[in-house]
Amino acid sequence: MKKAVYPGSFDPVTYGHIDIIRRAAEIFDELTISVLDNKAKTPLFSVEERVKILKEATKDIPNVRVESFSGLLINYAAENDFHISVRGLRAITDFEYELQIAQTNNKLSGGKLDTIFLTARLEYTYISSSSVKEIASFGGDVSECVPDFVADMLYEKYNQKSRGESNE
Ligand code: PNS
Repeated sequence: MKKAVYPGSFDPVTYGHIDIIRRAAEIFDELTISVLDNKAKTPLFSVEERVKILKEATKDIPNVRVESFSGLLINYAAENDFHISVRGLRAITDFEYELQIAQTNNKLSGGKLDTIFLTARLEYTYISSSSVKEIASFGGDVSECVPDFVADMLYEKYNQKSRGESNE
């Protein structure tokens, strides 16, 4: 069985990610989306929320699983017998960053982890989780960037923040 992992922050998942997920799920028998639990960063959505959002956004794709990981990707990959990591590329700037990470992971894993890149569809190249958050924080329209339920969760998060409620 050919399986792969698609690691990322997914804070939150966008239509760009979902397109990569759909296409990778066609290529591999099983695709595991894994949300990085990075204690050094303060994401908008908790890991649990991001996993839940991803599960909902991909519920119609049968060969997709969603989980989380912490620490180095190569260690998580070795523990779970993943030899291929999937990443999406929107632009040359992504490639410069991703090339370095892919080469580092390949080197550190002793050649056991390879990275496969799928290029973002043109209509999604401008979308990033960061810009989606910024637009939503000002009440802007993110309907072309994320599923409606994610947009609602974004507006709710920023409403909570403006009311001074907890981020969790
Ligand atoms: O969605 P992102 O934030 O671009 O995803 C980046 C991610 C999670 C794939 C990358 O930061 C990662 O794998 N982090 C785990 C730590 C690690 O293994 N770093 C690579 C060595 S440089």
